[in-house]
Amino acid sequence: MENDVRLSEPRAGRTIWTSFLKWTGPIASSYGEMTSSADSHAIQKISDKYAKSYFPFLPIQQSYVPSDKEMLQLASSALLSLWMIHRRVSGMHSSFRDAESWFFGDRAHSKGISFATDNWPPESALAKISNLTYNDEFDDIFPYIAEIFETRQADLLSNRTIKRNIGLYYTPSDVTNYMVQEALKPWLDSRKPLTDVACLDPACGSGVFLRALLNSLPDTPAFKDKGKFDISFRLYGFDVSWQAIQSCAFTLFLDCVDDVQRRSLNPWLAWQSIRSNLAVADSTRIAGVGATDIAASSSNAKIRSEARTRISSGEWFDGVSFSEESFQGSLTRYLGDIFGEVAPGFSVIIGNPPYSGSVAHGRQITLDGQPEHRARPQLGYYLPFVEMMWRFANSTYSTSAMVLPLSVAYHSGTAFRQLRKNIQSMGGSWRFQFFDRTPDSLFGDLIKTRNCIAFAELGQEFGRNPQMMTTPLIRWNSRKRKRLFTVVRSVSLGDFPIERCIPKLGSDMEFRAYKKLRSEPLTIGDMLREIRGNPKHTRRLGEVYFYSTAYNWLPVFRHLPNEYGSTGNEFRAHTLICKDSEQADFLFGIFSSRVAYWLWRVEGDGFHLNRTFLLDLPFHASRFSGAHYAEIGELGRHLWDEIRHFPVKKLNAGRLSISYRPYACGDILDRLDMKILQSFEIDSFGALLRDYVVDTIVAGRDNEPKLKSIIQQLVGERD
Ligand SMILES: C[S@@+](CC[C@H](N)C(=O)[O-])C[C@H]1O[C@@H](n2cnc3c(N)ncnc32)[C@H](O)[C@@H]1O
Repeated sequence: MENDVRLSEPRAGRTIWTSFLKWTGPIASSYGEMTSSADSHAIQKISDKYAKSYFPFLPIQQSYVPSDKEMLQLASSALLSLWMIHRRVSGMHSSFRDAESWFFGDRAHSKGISFATDNWPPESALAKISNLTYNDEFDDIFPYIAEIFETRQADLLSNRTIKRNIGLYYTPSDVTNYMVQEALKPWLDSRKPLTDVACLDPACGSGVFLRALLNSLPDTPAFKDKGKFDISFRLYGFDVSWQAIQSCAFTLFLDCVDDVQRRSLNPWLAWQSIRSNLAVADSTRIAGVGATDIAASSSNAKIRSEARTRISSGEWFDGVSFSEESFQGSLTRYLGDIFGEVAPGFSVIIGNPPYSGSVAHGRQITLDGQPEHRARPQLGYYLPFVEMMWRFANSTYSTSAMVLPLSVAYHSGTAFRQLRKNIQSMGGSWRFQFFDRTPDSLFGDLIKTRNCIAFAELGQEFGRNPQMMTTPLIRWNSRKRKRLFTVVRSVSLGDFPIERCIPKLGSDMEFRAYKKLRSEPLTIGDMLREIRGNPKHTRRLGEVYFYSTAYNWLPVFRHLPNEYGSTGNEFRAHTLICKDSEQADFLFGIFSSRVAYWLWRVEGDGFHLNRTFLLDLPFHASRFSGAHYAEIGELGRHLWDEIRHFPVKKLNAGRLSISYRPYACGDILDRLDMKILQSFEIDSFGALLRDYVVDTIVAGRDNEPKLKSIIQQLVGERD
């Protein structure tokens, strides 16, 4: 593969989605033809056959039964997936019926959906996909290309909108592999009995995490003699989408197919075994470990286990009978109601939950089977999935990993604060790693998100005292993506309270400085409150302005920038009113300091700059001696005079915005930082702060000739 980078990993100048276009275009077109070429009579027959052969055959509770129209879509994607896998395995150009004959064996005629009617599926649908490449690359990208069965759009632009709206971002394989390795590590380090693990992805999509587990578990001593098909028994998934669950079954089947063939097992039974660990369910409506009816749950577990034994010994049977009772509606179920054997909970929980979704029951499929493309992103939609890291966990011991939006660390909403408080009260060991979105982002260039990967190790052996680890908000360069996960610097927060935010820190020294600053009871807000309540200060005597977004420095101003006058653009900034110009100079100095910029990245989202953050800064005037207060104000004034020689103009959506580059005035900044740090007796932090700012801006791009001069301009020459 190209430079050893798999297509399922983003790389410089290439997103994973652009790599798939040569597959997704033809597949979307075949799929479109198949779903539009059946009349109502054919749809009925296809749906009947689909329900008999492709519905899970072992007892499992699912949340709803698809409509006939949805079944035609599922039948179409099942046939296409199956045909492609057969093509990959056999190397032959065959028909849909040939593929199903391989899958079902002798029973193909009675079971295959391609045998349901003579006019469907159209053979022309096959022509479009028969010349695609079916090799290792295909195996690698299968779960990602299966995504077009959900978005139904192969073209990038509409795909992007739909993905954003329905929260469907499949995770690149380097991220899934890393998270799986890390989630398995404690098991290996502590020699826990990995043999009995049950692993869950509660929003499994087309199965990229379960696949990573399936490929990693055989490397562990516990599974080294096991075939992949046997390991698949340990993998479970939930997803609200029938389509996602079906694609997930085909992804895992593709990975097990060599083992299945080697052992001469029936492919359909093997697929059924895999599919029967995947439930169409809204995970947020599952209460947790346990079962509503212990006896029913044990009987369910027994039937499932016996069926598995028969399938893996090569026995043919399709006689398991059970009633498929859906649990749509308001009923809350337990894990053991869905899969009897996992009533005690899961030992490994991993995934990438939806970041947004439709408000109605978390379902993203409308009644006519179409994804709800207009679903509005809902803030905090993912929070219940974080709770699943303990609610779905086996209380004896578990490890988990979730890739989440960065808001889990900084958002001040009640639900977010409560979640962080709950995390802390869980005890155990937690690690949070933070990733910025530029220059590169975890999900590649198409979907630029800021993320947190959260790892947890929980269990009876841990007391109630949590151990927390954090990282800085890591910026990196796509050329160094391969090394991204090997250079993550972690810092222990001990049991430092995280309800307010999870601070993003990169060294013990940063942590010490942070603790010192945050132990300060009075803030700038308290200083300005004194003005608001005092009638003497009704006249505006000093102002500081700030923009609502920031990147490499905090864009703050003492006065309206002159440049605006001549351009006709409006100076759109927020204002902080101060009691006099000395106070405004002082605040301008504080806000311009590297200390304030660092705190903004430690606590915030790395993009928005708001009044709450500025007012919450722990730099009340009373914290400084009179001389220091005056000196900071003096430096602030001096900085404003100098900084205006270094304007940076940016055009954004046709609007000009001007800010000033503070690092051009490095000497003044050094002195400002020093005055602030001295007042907190953390002077030694100054040198680290300088490096912090340079490293943040350079973000691993030191050796990129095109960027060198821009970066030098921003930060000056490195020492
Ligand atoms: C961001 S995707 C992640 C898929 C996969 N884990 C990956 O990383 O590639 C989120 C998945 O969650 C599913 N989903 C959305 N709401 C859900 C819910 N309430 N319960 C279970 N799954 C849900 C979506 O259908 C989608 O497949």
